[in-house]
Amino acid sequence: MMSKTVAELLADSTLHDVSVKGWVRTFRANRFIALNDGSTINNIQCVVDFENFEEDFLKRITTGAAIHVTGELVESQGKGQSVEIQVKEIEILGDSDPETYPIQPKKHSFEFLRENAHLRTRTNTFGAVMRMCSTISFAIHKYFTENGFYNMHTPIITGSDAEGAGETFRVSTLDPKNPPLTENGEVDFKEDFFGKETNLTVSGQLEAETYAMALGKVYTFGPTFRAENSNTSRHLAEFWMIEPEVAFMDLAGNMDLAEDFLRSVLSYVLEHCKEDLEFLDDRLQKEEAKLPQIERSPMNLIDKIKFVVDNNFKRVSYTEAIDILRNSKPNKKKKFKYLINEWGADLQSEHERFLVEKHFKCPVILFDYPANIKAFYMRLNDDGKTVRAMDVLFPGIGEMVGGSQREERLDVLKEKMKALDIPEEELWWYLDLRKYGTAVHSGFGLGFERLVMFATGMSNIRDVIPYPRSPQNAEF
Ligand code: 4AD
Repeated sequence: MMSKTVAELLADSTLHDVSVKGWVRTFRANRFIALNDGSTINNIQCVVDFENFEEDFLKRITTGAAIHVTGELVESQGKGQSVEIQVKEIEILGDSDPETYPIQPKKHSFEFLRENAHLRTRTNTFGAVMRMCSTISFAIHKYFTENGFYNMHTPIITGSDAEGAGETFRVSTLDPKNPPLTENGEVDFKEDFFGKETNLTVSGQLEAETYAMALGKVYTFGPTFRAENSNTSRHLAEFWMIEPEVAFMDLAGNMDLAEDFLRSVLSYVLEHCKEDLEFLDDRLQKEEAKLPQIERSPMNLIDKIKFVVDNNFKRVSYTEAIDILRNSKPNKKKKFKYLINEWGADLQSEHERFLVEKHFKCPVILFDYPANIKAFYMRLNDDGKTVRAMDVLFPGIGEMVGGSQREERLDVLKEKMKALDIPEEELWWYLDLRKYGTAVHSGFGLGFERLVMFATGMSNIRDVIPYPRSPQNAEF
């Protein structure tokens, strides 16, 4: 008999003789096995008549063991499930030592589960989060495919850090103890694998631009690497970024795209992750109930997602935002760690969160930032001091998206690169785009894990990626 998944069994009450494989969550009173196979948050209850089995055999049905159950699917007599399996046969596929199995049927701290990340997906919370990761990833590809975008794979190893998006990880096959040296005593990267210095990419944008200027609408969805020493709950050293890039689109179009994209993906999540979302929502409400009233969020998880799906994002220029922040209570009462005194200040996460969570109380798109706090490739405005940059800020997360209209004018771009000491030889191909059929174009980058944080209500980015990479941590 073909085995079915637990999800299939729970969805089809016409089934009769069934076979299912999974891992034991609990085995109560030598009678009730709660079996889960990862296909759904729900377990299937398997009812065992212990008289039909040897005692020693039943002892092996412990939490974590992999088993194969055959029996009859019947309407459940008990509460909590509609159907259950009256067990005929059990095969133990893999024993689990109850003394040492880390995932016991009790509440574990997220810190403990991070140390056991290879097994944490067998818990309800991580099962739900990781299933949602998969659905969100699908929704992203679906959105772009349905909107005429081509998916492209940008290189992971690159020869430049021209983005300036942070510190890079070097890629080298040179012997670190005894590298070849130039006459000046510096490491001779000409002798390295690629004949030049290379690193892991911080973003696929520059290469995506080249394809947008041929295919029109493209996007990348790949891993990016940043060697910043940011040990925060929102930063990873390795994360996945979605970067659409569109020819003939200006900043206003870019804002429309980011907003429509985020709302569509979240709407798909509401529709297709119901059970996992309900579980995570409930978990979060129980967690929040332990907090003092003022620290609790005003909306539950599902309402928060619905709010984003149903409401327009607020669009505010950097200059307006600075005015709001300068006159805000926390600034006047010196409650911000970094006080906002003048135009030109780089916004910190405390400022972004104030704007989103306290002032506007909805996602905000900030645009037209000072040129000197943004990347070299952003389109300079006619005022000569701001660029057509945009950041999408989300409640509880801060920066979700960063993007811009790109500088399409060769002379302006060259001047900017010169001022920032970016060698033209390194980006000759990027400059070529401005020589041959240049045009207005724009794009943005979305951190996949930040979106998953928002959609799942998880507060630490290390809990929404299977194996997080962060300073001093590359286990698994
Ligand atoms: O704002 P960023 O640095 O933008 C870029 O890299 C552009 N090249 C994107 C583009 O225009 N194509 O990063 C984009 C997004 C951020 O808004 C954030 O969501 C996420 O990537 N991000 C991180 N996520 C996790 N850990 C980190 N260390 C991150 N740094 C950025």
